[in-house]
Amino acid sequence: MKSYKIAVIPGDGTGPEVVAEGVKVLDAVSSKFGFKNEYTHFDFGGNRYLKTGEVLPASAINDLKQFDAIFLGAIGHPDVKPGILEKGILLEIRFKLDQYINLRPVKLYPGVECPLKDKTTKDIDFVVIRENSEGLYAGAGGVLKKGTPDEVATQESINTRKGVERCLRYAFELTKKRNKANKLTLCGKTNVLTYAFDLWKRAFDELAPSYPAVKTDYAHVDAITMWFVKNPEWFDVVVTDNLFGDIITDLGAMIQGGMGIAAGGNINPEGVSMFEPIGGSAPKYTGQNVINPLAAICAAGMMLDTLGEAKAAAAIEGAVMEITARHIKSLAAGKMGMGTREIGDLCARLASA
Ligand code: IPM
Ligand code: MN
Repeated sequence: MKSYKIAVIPGDGTGPEVVAEGVKVLDAVSSKFGFKNEYTHFDFGGNRYLKTGEVLPASAINDLKQFDAIFLGAIGHPDVKPGILEKGILLEIRFKLDQYINLRPVKLYPGVECPLKDKTTKDIDFVVIRENSEGLYAGAGGVLKKGTPDEVATQESINTRKGVERCLRYAFELTKKRNKANKLTLCGKTNVLTYAFDLWKRAFDELAPSYPAVKTDYAHVDAITMWFVKNPEWFDVVVTDNLFGDIITDLGAMIQGGMGIAAGGNINPEGVSMFEPIGGSAPKYTGQNVINPLAAICAAGMMLDTLGEAKAAAAIEGAVMEITARHIKSLAAGKMGMGTREIGDLCARLASA
């Protein structure tokens, strides 16, 4: 029997609660579809940092490299200054494991209340591919004369031909594989960021002829925020840089019903990938059995899909859709009409039925 070694990082706040439901559903489908999961838990997060002063132990990255995939809950602790855990854990893992793709599906499931008037499930079903290893997140820049009136702060966007091209290639391949509208939209800012997005646009145009079945399109990032709201049905696959991807996927999460359902994968197609609900640790809901576990469950489904268990992944998605359509009142924490664990139980039962 096939067996997958999964590293589990429950993290902070409600992270452990939603991860537990994800694992419950993973176990339910694995017995049905004939594979096994072996979990190893890691205690990375705010509590560990507050106790030990260490964000990630020195061995962490090498340890994580030994797994087939990583399942992450949420990182973020109210007693830790912003930036420390995000950069020290989340971004460190993304960068050191070279998870250069951040894959974020935006799909409105049946029964989910959409904030966009007159838009239905057939209008909102696209994927954003966010470059996940470069751009403004690379950490280039610095500060001079800090704390004085002459302070200078710079923060530069790093775009390498190699980094841009591998991301674009992944986007073209995914558009082809998805075979929905066969349309790939590059999102940039070629009218102002004339160095960075000139590189993106040239690489995009040079790759396009190798994918004759894929229609290409371009949108400026400011305009795309309008179109996501006004005409989400125009989009099939969108590819963009790290910061723009960060921003437009929060908008994407909202039009699919909110953080209760939005999931993402940090993917290294040649290495170890990490899957997570996009929302944060929501500390105020900790331990109350009110947080929505569906985003984490969807992340677990994406993980199985990436591992090659497409049928099990589809079973999870089917169960999630049945729950949104028939069983919960809302995706919002505390308003679901069911508890965190009860949703996990139901999802496990439906996905393995
Ligand atoms: C995300 C988050 C992170 C990011 C933060 C927590 C560093 O917002 O995954 O989108 O900016 O990438
Ligand atoms: Mn974000």
